Amino acid sequence: MVQALQRKLASIDVSDPHLYQDDTWRPLFEQLRRDDPVHYCEASPFGPYWSVTRYDDIFAVELDHETYSSSSELGGIQVTDQPKGQERVSFIRMDPPGHTAQRRTVAPIVAPSNLANFEQLIRKRTSDVLDALPRNETFDRAERVSTDLTNMMLATLFDFPWEDRMKLSWWSDVAIANVDSPDAVVHSEDERYEEMVKMGECFRKLWNARADAPPTFDLVSMLAHSPATRNLQTREFIGTIGLLIVGGNDTTRNSMSGGLMALVENPEQFELVRARRELIPNLVSEIIRYHTPVLHMRRTARHDTELAGRHIAKGDKVVMWYISGNRDETKIDRADEFVIDRAKPRQHLAFGAGIHRCVGDRLAEMQLRILWEELLKRDLTIELAGPPIRLYSNFIRGIRALPVRIVN
Ligand code: HEM
Repeated sequence: MVQALQRKLASIDVSDPHLYQDDTWRPLFEQLRRDDPVHYCEASPFGPYWSVTRYDDIFAVELDHETYSSSSELGGIQVTDQPKGQERVSFIRMDPPGHTAQRRTVAPIVAPSNLANFEQLIRKRTSDVLDALPRNETFDRAERVSTDLTNMMLATLFDFPWEDRMKLSWWSDVAIANVDSPDAVVHSEDERYEEMVKMGECFRKLWNARADAPPTFDLVSMLAHSPATRNLQTREFIGTIGLLIVGGNDTTRNSMSGGLMALVENPEQFELVRARRELIPNLVSEIIRYHTPVLHMRRTARHDTELAGRHIAKGDKVVMWYISGNRDETKIDRADEFVIDRAKPRQHLAFGAGIHRCVGDRLAEMQLRILWEELLKRDLTIELAGPPIRLYSNFIRGIRALPVRIVN
């Protein structure tokens, strides 16, 4: 009996992207949280790695950045190692002090005081996008709403040429593509790197122009003028722009799609928020927890250590599965259910924690809040018109297409 369980546990590899493409990850994580919460997978296509699956253990790893490093040189932040020579270095793949100075450079643009300045603009754009949607006709909600709105937001943050803004989601797709997937947007690391270099060239032109001009309040100008970032070399430059694009794009757009699915699948919760609009901020947090757009972050142990009774050796890969921590029943009541009136809706791990906690969390919440305020104001009846197409990835919980119909 015990041996059978051990054999079963030894065979579990939650890094398999099929689990997320097919949406079949739940029972495996449930078992790991119960029977082997810090689990060693000896053989995976990405090499051996530890899975941290419980809320409190994930939190402990997040807070101990001296033991658990994000450094690109040690392997970075994904279970998949970056190809040698093509590492995309950026501050998410750094430890202090480099991380601290670069994060401080970009943080002001998403500070609460500045977000208030964006609110009207986001509301106007959201309204325009919603008012242009077809009625009684199937369309791809992921493309027409989620991708469009996040591209507009990013174009504003970068002060990127408006007419070219679709390039931003393209580069985001390229940056996170799993090159082994037949429907990936790029099919080799070299192809990915070529696209990233094109992105770098495009941004370098904007950067040079802004570096020569007085500072303005956009991400490119802020990076070009800050002593911490103004001399970034090519690879770090590409990495930093790529981080901001993926950070601001993939996560928010997938929460926009995932949230609609959760509400349509839980009609009583839809009714609840229709009746009590003051629950919208809670709804937003619950969407982000329930969807968990970033499936994991990885760290590398700088020295031997213990975690929940397991011995972790120097150099081991340690993967924090947010998707699992956010379903941990010992921490979150009815964790597997979508409940918009929870007592502590912001208690989740979808934004990470500690020094790398998402810098754009309040912006993402604001974008989602406005989207739901405007959607509910219009009292639209939205039906799913087919199953979603999910991304083949063990890093981003992506919804590539979401066919829907508005029937009123
Ligand atoms: C629902 C939307 C979002 C989710 C779920 C999300 C999730 C995350 C997660 C899990 C991390 C890593 C945290 C850690 O390692 O502890 C992160 C970091 C980051 N996010 Fe987000 N994010 C979202 C939106 C955004 C937006 C809108 C932006 C920018 C405009 C952004 C920019 C970043 C950046 C720059 C980092 C790196 C922070 C650091 O290393 O210090 N994110 N995000």
